[in-house]
Amino acid sequence: MSDSALAAGPLRLVLVGPPASGKGTQAAVLRERFAAPQISTGDMLRAARRAGTPLGKEAEGYMNAGQLVPDATVIGLVDERLEQADVASGFILDGFPRTVPQAEALDRVLTAKGTPLSAVVQIDVPRELLVERATLRRTDKRTGHIYHLKYNPPPPDADLEHRADDQEETVIARLDQYDAMTAALLPYYAARTLLRRVDGVGPTQQVTERLLQALGA
Ligand code: AP5
Repeated sequence: MSDSALAAGPLRLVLVGPPASGKGTQAAVLRERFAAPQISTGDMLRAARRAGTPLGKEAEGYMNAGQLVPDATVIGLVDERLEQADVASGFILDGFPRTVPQAEALDRVLTAKGTPLSAVVQIDVPRELLVERATLRRTDKRTGHIYHLKYNPPPPDADLEHRADDQEETVIARLDQYDAMTAALLPYYAARTLLRRVDGVGPTQQVTERLLQALGA
């Protein structure tokens, strides 16, 4: 792979990192910068849950327990999303893949399309900071903007939502799932020379700068 993740055309990026490491926050910045859609399986599943669809009903129990939704369900969701026309300008996958079978399924789809990944960036944040990041997260229901009561306080007129899975007990279960299932992705992508690592501790803008540097942008 060339040093710049952008050498071979549009950015096709996977962001990997534990819960509340800043994937959604950084994906929103990169989405604007590269004019590429952000594909967040967590957001898609929450939207399905709000709409009360069969997918949402299936996912709800897993999400509330801090468990992963079954691979086949999430793979189907992403396969369908990758059929949409806007991915011609690249994409930022946020929260997918999360298991090796999901990564293998993604590889199959992208290989068939002739559009391989540009890079996989792992955002590193120590576990002791993640519980505070998650439990004090608030999201604006209207705009989807992510705030933090301490590090990025919302404006007074924001219509805030506290995610059901951001209670401390559930956050700990999610962190355990990450260690048990998702950490196995790192050697998978390292073996394919796609993996780059970024320190996710520090002001958001500084983390963005590190990410852009890691991408050679
Ligand atoms: P999902 O929504 O993907 O949750 P997650 O991976 O646990 O990630 P988060 O959304 O919690 O955090 P983030 O890394 O995006 O951090 P953020 O930018 O918000 O998934 C939810 C559930 O859906 C899963 O548990 C599972 O059940 C299911 N699911 C989803 N995808 C799946 C898949 N592929 N397979 C199976 N199941 C799946 O930041 C967090 C907070 O920190 C915010 O308040 C933010 O303001 C703040 N912050 C961000 N950056 C900084 C910084 N630099 N300094 C200080 N604070 C910061």
